[in-house]
Amino acid sequence: IPLSIGIDIGGTKVAAGVVDGSGAIAERLQVATPSHSPVAVENTIVELVEELASRHPVASVGIGAAGWVDTDQAVVRFSPHLAWREEPLKERLQTRIRLPLIVDNDANAAAWAEYRFGAGADASVMVCITLGTGIGGALVLDGRLFRGSYGMAGEWGHMIVVPGGHRCECGNRGCWEQYASGNALVREARELAGSRSPVAQSLLDAVGGAEAITGPAITQAAVGGESLAAELLGDVGHWLGLGIANLVAALDPELVVVGGGVSEAGELLLGPARQAFDRTLTGRGFRPSARIVEARFRNDAGLIGAADLARHSLDEPPGRV
Ligand code: BGC
Ligand code: NA
Ligand code: ZN
Repeated sequence: IPLSIGIDIGGTKVAAGVVDGSGAIAERLQVATPSHSPVAVENTIVELVEELASRHPVASVGIGAAGWVDTDQAVVRFSPHLAWREEPLKERLQTRIRLPLIVDNDANAAAWAEYRFGAGADASVMVCITLGTGIGGALVLDGRLFRGSYGMAGEWGHMIVVPGGHRCECGNRGCWEQYASGNALVREARELAGSRSPVAQSLLDAVGGAEAITGPAITQAAVGGESLAAELLGDVGHWLGLGIANLVAALDPELVVVGGGVSEAGELLLGPARQAFDRTLTGRGFRPSARIVEARFRNDAGLIGAADLARHSLDEPPGRV
């Protein structure tokens, strides 16, 4: 079975791995997303591919990029968290990487991994939500990623849930991802730290001071039992549940898969999300309820899915294994 490299480029980290035909990772590397320059990101991708390809017989490369990828899956038109603006990512990379290569949105890649090998088992309508720096979204319909007319379907992280709310990196105010993402966690935690409230002290002790506040640090503190961190995750979960109720009203999926770094908080996030969802879903009590589940591959879904999309771009579109 040919091996494939998958690379997941997010707002804060680049994860790369060699993945086999069953979705298993043979080797995984991770680096911080380099400074906000397309060239630096490109160099990082090339270095990761060269390093992994020097140790494994790989046949293709898949890139999941945190941005809006066009219909031809070649150009990243825009990215709220990275410096891509009409970036011809595929062409740039293809001049430096000699393997067949595909580019897709990071959340699309994650959804694909969950559908093929993970939590998505046979769902005919599956919504995927990844909570990292921002909110990524994807929809798998009858075994295929739904891309919309211009490649940009699934950007529900930028649905406005609070008119006039927090400014988003997309330029608008009140986007969902300002309330339910790693960035939202960090903003709330920093605000609390800045308030010098005594209740913030144990959270600060747990993460190692105000400078050390990051999404993963808060998530870890919460999982480790720090109660304020758990509260912050509960707030994020609440917003998550409201947004899911909106998506379910629009799309009527049978399954909603929640992944990304923040999902490592497990039930601390999903419990409050389910509660908010159950209290707000329109027509509740008179309809079957979509299941909200944790992504099986959590933070690795993006790279696994990108690799699988690359492998299958070489042959027929796949069904589920
Ligand atoms: C971007 C998406 C991306 C998501 C997760 C959002 O802000 O608009 O394209 O998938 O963040 O990285
Ligand atoms: Na998407
Ligand atoms: Zn936005």
